Amino acid sequence: MRAAGRDINAAVWGLHERYGSAFAFGVGPLHFVWLVGPEAAHFVTQEAAPHLVLGPAYRFLRPIGGDAALITSDEPEHLRRRRLVQPAFHKGRLEGAFEVVERRLGALFTELSRASAGGAVNLYTAVRPCVLETICEVLLGAATLKRNPELTGYVARMMAFANLPFAFQEFKVPFPGSPWARLVQARRQADEVLYREIQRRREDAPKGQLQGGEDGGVMSLLLAAEDEAGAGLSDAEVRDQALSLVSAGFETTSAALVWAVYALLRHPDMLARLREEVMGLERLEYGALARLPYLERVVKETLRLYPPAPAALRVATRDLEFAGLHIPKGQRVALSIYATHRQSASYPEPLSFDPERWLHAPPPNAYLPFGNGARYCIGSGLATGVIKFGLALLLRDYRLTPAWEGTLQEAGNTLHPKGGLPVRIERGS
Ligand code: HEM
Repeated sequence: MRAAGRDINAAVWGLHERYGSAFAFGVGPLHFVWLVGPEAAHFVTQEAAPHLVLGPAYRFLRPIGGDAALITSDEPEHLRRRRLVQPAFHKGRLEGAFEVVERRLGALFTELSRASAGGAVNLYTAVRPCVLETICEVLLGAATLKRNPELTGYVARMMAFANLPFAFQEFKVPFPGSPWARLVQARRQADEVLYREIQRRREDAPKGQLQGGEDGGVMSLLLAAEDEAGAGLSDAEVRDQALSLVSAGFETTSAALVWAVYALLRHPDMLARLREEVMGLERLEYGALARLPYLERVVKETLRLYPPAPAALRVATRDLEFAGLHIPKGQRVALSIYATHRQSASYPEPLSFDPERWLHAPPPNAYLPFGNGARYCIGSGLATGVIKFGLALLLRDYRLTPAWEGTLQEAGNTLHPKGGLPVRIERGS
C-alpha cells in the first residue's frame, strides 16, 4: 500500500502480473476493483457502461469543475450537456486555435532558449503554465484573458489541490493557508471572473450571434448552443464547462508533449527522422501537420507508453461480474489504461518506445489514451493538435539536448515525469 501511494500505476502493474485482469486493491475511499486489458476496456466503456457511473467516481473533481462538468455528469444530463458542448470542439471550429498554440508555444520556446544559455531549463514546468494559458485563450477567448490576466493563476492554484495525492484530498480543512482554503479562495476568484464574463457576453450579443470576434473562444459557442427544443446551457453550466475543460485539458496535454520530447531525446534516430519530416513542410499549419505519418506514429506511441490519464474511474450501479470477479453494487471500479497499454499480448516489447508498431493497428480495445464509448475525450483533437504543433515548432527551430541522467520516474494523478524534464535548448535546427 505504501508503494501504491508513491506510484499507483506501478503497483497496479505488479498486481496485474500476479492476479490477472481483475483484482481488488486499496482501502477506504481508495478501495477499487482494478481491471486491465482489452476485454476489461470493452467491459467498462461499452458492455457494462450503462451500469457504471462517473459522477461519484470523479467526485474529487467537483470542487473545481462543479456539478455540471461533463466528466462528473451521468445520464440523462450527460448526454444533453455533451450534445451542447461537443460541436464547439468540431475540427473546423478549432483550426483558429492553432494560431494561439503557435504564438504562445513559439514565444515560450524562444524565451527558454535564451534562459538555456545559462544552463538547463525544465521543459515540463515551463510548458505547463504556457499550455494552461493557451487552452484558456482557446476556450475563453483572448479578450477574456486580456481583461482578466489573473484568471490562469486562479486555475493553477485550484489545480494544486487536485494534484495532491487522493488520500490528502479527503482532508477538506478550512484553516487559513491550508490547501483546501487556498482552493476555495481561488475558486471564488475564478467564479467572479467567469460569471462576469458570461454576463457581459449575454448582454453584448443576442442569442445565437455570440461566435467570433475577440471574445470568441469555445465559451461563446457554449453560450450560443441550443438543443432541438431551443434550450441552452445555464450560466452555472457554462461556468462548470469552462473550468472543467481547462483543468481536464492543460495538464494532460502538457504532460503528453513533454513525454514525447523525452522519448525522442532518448532515440536520436527517431528525432532526426521526425525533424526531416517536419522540415519538409512549407509552413506549419494544422491540416499539414495532421497529415504527417511519422509525427502521427510518434504521438500515438507517446500516448500509449505514457498515457497522461492513466485510469478511467467508475462506480457500479448494480452487481456486476468480470473475469470471475464479483463487483458489488456501489463498488468503485478503475480501468487501468496504463497497464492495458503495456500488455505484451497486445504490444510486443511493450516497454520500448517504437513508433513503427503503429504501421499495424493494435487489437481492438487495446489502445484508449482518450477513453472510449460515450465518454470518449471531447478534447482529443485539440490535445493532439497542441502536441503536434509543439513538437513541430521545437524540432524545426531548436536543438535540444538532455540534461537529465538515467530514466525519469513516472508520477502523478496525471502521469508526468517526476521532477520534470531538464533539457538544454538552443535556437537553430
Ligand atoms: C493528451 C491529452 C488528454 C488526454 C490523455 C485525455 C484523456 C481523457 C480520457 C482517458 C477521458 C475518459 C475518461 C473516462 O472515461 O473516465 C477523457 C474525457 C474527457 N476529456 Fe480528455 N484528455 C486529454 C485532453 C483533453 C482536453 C484538451 C480537453 C478539453 C479542452 C479534455 C476534456 C475532456 C472531457 C470534457 C472529458 C469527459 C467527456 C465525457 O464524459 O463525456 N481532455 N479525457
